[in-house]
Amino acid sequence: MENNVRPQTMARINTKALADEFIAEQVELIRKQVGDKKVLLALSGGVDSSVVAALLIKAIGKQLVCVHVNHGLMRKNESENVIEVFQNGLNANLIYVDATERFLSLLAGVSDPEQKRKIIGKEFINVFADEARKLEGIEYLAQGTIYPDILESIKQAEGKKAVKSHHNVGGLPEDLQFELVEPLKLLFKDEVRVVGEALGLPHAMVYRQPFPGPGLGVRCLGAITRDRLHALREADAILREEFDISGLAEKVWQYFVVIPDIKSVGVKDDSRYEGWPAIIRAVNTKDAMTATIEEIPYAVLHKITNRIVTEVEGINRVLYDITPKPTGTIEWE
Ligand code: XMP
Repeated sequence: MENNVRPQTMARINTKALADEFIAEQVELIRKQVGDKKVLLALSGGVDSSVVAALLIKAIGKQLVCVHVNHGLMRKNESENVIEVFQNGLNANLIYVDATERFLSLLAGVSDPEQKRKIIGKEFINVFADEARKLEGIEYLAQGTIYPDILESIKQAEGKKAVKSHHNVGGLPEDLQFELVEPLKLLFKDEVRVVGEALGLPHAMVYRQPFPGPGLGVRCLGAITRDRLHALREADAILREEFDISGLAEKVWQYFVVIPDIKSVGVKDDSRYEGWPAIIRAVNTKDAMTATIEEIPYAVLHKITNRIVTEVEGINRVLYDITPKPTGTIEWE
């Protein structure tokens, strides 16, 4: 517990020099901890796991085995990016697992959000464990735990209730117990980003907006279907592209598309066209406990709407959710 407490004297890492110092220190510590043994890491492509991966690659190179599980609920091109940055860019020892079919078949017909989260969380561990069992000589498990995660678990241990159950790679089965390597566990998110940039990771990866573990699974509302999931992924990619072009990506904390399981009547090429609505959500927040709405200029909304309804099969309307949190949570499920 002792080394889970951030010393009051620890300087906030907010410059490249401080990040370099932290990196040098951790490289030493990691080498000392793991020696010539192998370390396993679930690499989602999120900020924390990416920075841990880059740090461990620097410290122990191919002794790190990264497993990237594509649960079929990733955003457009996300898994491809992970492969590009880590396998092609950093020459990582990376295992890519396309588990789309496993996840989507388990989720078929399941509409309750918490049930969906449980299935995704549990299957994630199953897939990861299956891969881990195929490997030999692994003694350590690296995790992208950061200081707010430690503070959150202390709060939960004190009996405070969470509104939604978030999942991480915890709770591996009995036969897969590894010693943990958690080099970021005393850092806040802003420090993790500074360290990530100092390690040479792409800016877009280090400043990536938060993306929930269950991914698009909690944005394709109700029972997930492949056609609606596909429409969601395409519409979300358009929104992200237009936010990049307009500079909003730098100003907004989290922005995404949600597609509910309803259809409305529309018209296309002079014919009746039933389709789903795409709901745009764009929020600002400090800690995700409350959130405000960032105003999207009308011209940007107009362009996004035009592109989504013309480019994405199955969507005939675009709605803009301007509800703050509370009362609306950030995600719809
Ligand atoms: P809510 O919807 O609770 O979201 O206002 C707050 C933040 O948490 C993210 N979120 C999740 N993250 N697993 C995660 O890892 C989850 O199940 C989950 N649900 C919500 C959400 O994207 C937002 O940033």
